[in-house]
Parts: sequence; structure tokens; C-alpha cells
Amino acid sequence: MSILITHGKIVTASESFVGDVYVEGGQVVALGKNLPYQADRVIDATDKLVLPGGIDPHVHLSLPFMGTFSSDDYTTGTRAALFGGTTTVIDFIIQKQGDTLYNALKTWQEKSLGKAIGDYSYHMAVTDFNPEVAKEVAALIEEEGITSFKTFMAYKGALMIDDGQMVQLMLALKKHGGMITVHATNGDLIDSLIARHRAEGKLSPLYHYLSQPEVTEAEASARFCDMLHYTGCPGYIVHLTCEGALNAVRRATLRNQKVYVETCSQYLVLDASVYGEGFEGAKWVMSPPLRQKKDQAALWAGIQQGLVNVVGTDHCPFMWEQKKMGLQDFSKIPNGHPAIEHRMELMFSEGVLKGHISLEKYVEVTATNAARIFGMYPRKGTLAVGADADIVVFDPQKKHTISAVSHHMNVDYSAYEGWELTGKVETVLLRGEVAIENNECHLEPGFGKFIPRQKATMHI
Ligand code: URP
Ligand code: ZN
Ligand code: ZN
Repeated sequence: MSILITHGKIVTASESFVGDVYVEGGQVVALGKNLPYQADRVIDATDKLVLPGGIDPHVHLSLPFMGTFSSDDYTTGTRAALFGGTTTVIDFIIQKQGDTLYNALKTWQEKSLGKAIGDYSYHMAVTDFNPEVAKEVAALIEEEGITSFKTFMAYKGALMIDDGQMVQLMLALKKHGGMITVHATNGDLIDSLIARHRAEGKLSPLYHYLSQPEVTEAEASARFCDMLHYTGCPGYIVHLTCEGALNAVRRATLRNQKVYVETCSQYLVLDASVYGEGFEGAKWVMSPPLRQKKDQAALWAGIQQGLVNVVGTDHCPFMWEQKKMGLQDFSKIPNGHPAIEHRMELMFSEGVLKGHISLEKYVEVTATNAARIFGMYPRKGTLAVGADADIVVFDPQKKHTISAVSHHMNVDYSAYEGWELTGKVETVLLRGEVAIENNECHLEPGFGKFIPRQKATMHI
């Protein structure tokens, strides 16, 4: 089916202009003013924005974590993403310590094949690096299109690797054209603070926050930058939250080092005042925790300065009953919060309309940079001839209110209950098919495709 989107304000990371987009065969065929095409379907986008489909490079779907599983699977998670204008997500495969990367890949293929509605790709989380795993790393890059590898400097005993393994993995990735990504917080220090708080009977969600002070992230981020500098491996810090960690990246630029940085929408719009002595704060128990207003300011400025390249979500939802696993002890609350559906609208309402970022910057950090950094550009992340027709028609004036009653994520509370936003996703195309229209999803499980990615070196 062919579609002509007319008279919309077309926005890319580099420009915006009022014009038309013609879509056929799942791809963008033409962009321009008054395009002379007859289409099966015309979508009038007058007074609307026409954006590339969002890319969220940090989501956890059916993640086995802290004795339970995150509550969105590939069907509910990618559907909710589409409702929010995100057409491609990158999930994390987690290697079981003592097991192979290929076994983990098989497990994630079973979770996603035939179930995803939106497009997806995988990062591979390496939790146990050794010479056999090094061979698998090469094969994943060369043969599977999995080119980014996640590491954890925290969650000791479950996910964390030590600095020796980190450096060896960096060397293997540099050799084969992979990208290393990191959860950069000092796991030993955090574990000691958790133990101290528990010993003192300080067990409410507030102490989750107080067990991960800024120094735990700033120190690990600086250490990671140093290891990248030593090895020459391309690297990316996920969910960076605070000024101290950003300054570590800033200092790395002084030796002409480029370290890619992702923050998440929650760190830009929420702060640590949500944590109190009551259990309500469990809704925002995530790692790293929410920070302070001065950190929000540093992150918005970091986006302007090009130090922060991507805004993701770290979507990792748990039902309230699951959160209650930590009712008596904050260290047992499953870490993570639901956001996959809200990122694009939150960043427009809180970012663009409040003057923090331009429209072009908005597209850059919600779509284009993730595609570039993770080897999907220009197929994904932009509006250009030959790109996948992943397109969002966005009403910049429409007001709406976030609520667990109306969201589409499989979770029974909202971390943003009652928030009034301006700007709403209206129509979403995925590879030229209407995915979202009239607040309904028109695609079935199985429509979503795995997107193999190019080597990191090809795009940096
Ligand atoms: O709290 C979080 N972030 N949960 C998901 C796992 C991770 O660290 O990204
Ligand atoms: Zn993390
Ligand atoms: Zn995460």
C-alpha cells in the first residue's frame, strides 16, 4: 500500500520544513513540497509534525531480574512503544554466568520471534568473559548483526564483571568492530552502603537512593572512560544520571576522547524528592536512582553541548505486587520503572515546549543518534529516501493526561500518574504499515522484525 502524508512539518536531526512524504513498499520514496504522487491513502498532516519513528535503545522485556521478570513482554512492550511513537527498541540479552552467549541468544529469540509488534534489536550483556566467550563475541558481530555489548560494573554475583574482564572484552570488541556499553556504578561501594543501611534497620525505598550516591556513578564512569582510552574501544555509557558522571565524560574530551552517553527521560524530568520513608517511593526504585535538580540542569545542558547523545528509557516495569517483594527491605525491590510509552511525549512536552531543546535536537536524541551509534542508520532514525517508513504524525497542541488506566504498558501503576502533557502521538507507520491510528494498534504480534546492525566502526 502507498501512503502520501501531506502538508506536515517534516523534522529531521538537521532541518525542518513543511512538505509531503510519499511511502511505498515499506520505505520512504520521496520527500518535498507538493509531491505529484497518487497514493492508496492520504494522511493530512496540516499543523502536525512528521517525525522519524523513535528508537529506544534501552529496554528490558521479560527480563529475569532480582527473582522475578519485568512485566512487559515483546508483545505488550513493543505495542506500548508504538503507542508512544517508538518504532524500534533495543533489548538486552543477558548471558547467564557460566553459560554461553549463544544459549542466551536462543532464549531471547524465543521471547521475541513471532511476538514482537514493533521492530527490535539486541544488545548482548556479557556477565562472564573468557576466551570462549571472546570467540562468540566475534561471531555475534560478524554473523548475527549483534554489534553492541553491555557490561555491568554493579550487581555483584549476578551481572557484574571486574575491570580485568572489562579490559579484555574491550580489546576483543575493538578488534572485531563492536561497541561496549556500560552500567557505570561502583558495585562494591553500593553493596557496602546497602549492607550498612540494612544493619542500621534503614529499610525504606529512601535508602535505595542513599545507597547509590553520586560518587558511585562518577567514579565508575571515570574508570570506564580511562579503560576505553587505554584500549581504544568505542564506548557508550547507559542511563547516565548526574553531573559528576557527566564531568568524567567531559574530562575525557580533554584528551580528544569521544565517549557516547545516554540518559533516560526520567532523569531529566523527575528528581529524588519522590523518595520518602513510605513505600510509595518503590515506584521509582531504579538503578541508578533519580538525582537532584542540579543534575537535571547538567543533563539538559549536556544534551545541548553534544555530551549527552541519546535519551532512552531503561524501561523495566514491575507490577505493584512485584515491587512489594521489597516491602520490608529496599534491597529486595525489583529495580526499574515503566516508561517505554512516554518517552517521546515527555521529551516533547518537557523538553521542546519548555525550551530545553529544539525540534531538531529532539529528533536527534530520540531517534537519529541511537541509529547512528548502534549501526542502523540511515535505515532507521531519519526521514530520507530509501529509509524504512517508520513515521510518527504528532499533534503538537493536543493535551492529554498520563494514567495507569489509559496507558498500554503491562503494569498496574504509572510513575507519571496525573501528569498533563502537551503534544500527542496521533498516527504511527512502521515500515509503511499503519501501526497506530485512532488510539488503536493495527498490527499483530509477529509484525515486528529483528534488525541486524552494522559494526560500530562503520558509523563513528
Ligand atoms: O533499575 C534498573 N535500571 N533496572 C534495569 C536493570 C538496569 O540496571 O538497567
Ligand atoms: Zn543498568
Ligand atoms: Zn537497563
